[in-house]
Amino acid sequence: MLPKPKFTALDDALYNYLLAHRSPDDEVVRELREETARLGDWAVMQIAPDQATLLRILVAAIGARRAIEVGTFTGLSALAIARGLPPDGRLLCLDVSEEWTAIARRAWAKAGVADRIELRVAPAAETLRSLPQEPPFDFAFIDADKKGYPVYWEEIVRRLRPGGLIAVDNVLWEGEVVQPEQRGEDVVAIRRFNELVLADRRVESVMLAIADGLTLARKLP
Ligand SMILES: C[S@@+](CC[C@H](N)C(=O)[O-])C[C@H]1O[C@@H](n2cnc3c(N)ncnc32)[C@H](O)[C@@H]1O
Repeated sequence: MLPKPKFTALDDALYNYLLAHRSPDDEVVRELREETARLGDWAVMQIAPDQATLLRILVAAIGARRAIEVGTFTGLSALAIARGLPPDGRLLCLDVSEEWTAIARRAWAKAGVADRIELRVAPAAETLRSLPQEPPFDFAFIDADKKGYPVYWEEIVRRLRPGGLIAVDNVLWEGEVVQPEQRGEDVVAIRRFNELVLADRRVESVMLAIADGLTLARKLP
């Protein structure tokens, strides 16, 4: 007989416990979360606190020096990635919003990591296609418009070093990926993207049940 599936479902109490048992956020992160919350409904776009910690740890663990992010918003994920880099490391951030990324720039300056980050405000597909193939990236985070994911994935996998990591957010789409009656364009795009990753022989990948689901993929040598 197969063993019982092994996972622990989260409720609010357990999630709060989990948040409290990770390395604590500092003042810059707390202020950035508060400022983002004041944007109202848009604030849901910000990554979860535990995802930020995870990104920082992953970047540092693989010794990444060059990183790229698609979808910056008010800058929390970029702040986490930049903090995982060494002082001479570089993060390239892609977003279309001057307004939201202005908040990001202020937070990065306060955290003392602004000199590690270059922000390009333009549609990400255009920017990605214009990037040289070399030198490669060590780490990438994709968290922008869902229909764009396949293009972002392809342009980034080509430019990732063997052994490099790509993290992709929202791959469970609040559970709708397994609800066939859900046919909204975002969930349809996410389902297609998840199949594309599964079929991509250049990487090995796993879906983590953190926040709205995070795919972590490693480019094979
Ligand atoms: C979910 S938010 C990113 C959240 C961010 N990672 C964080 O930690 O707060 C998605 C972002 O993607 C950006 N975006 C949407 N379409 C885009 C496109 N075509 N090119 C670049 N950025 C885009 C939006 O402006 C928005 O800031």
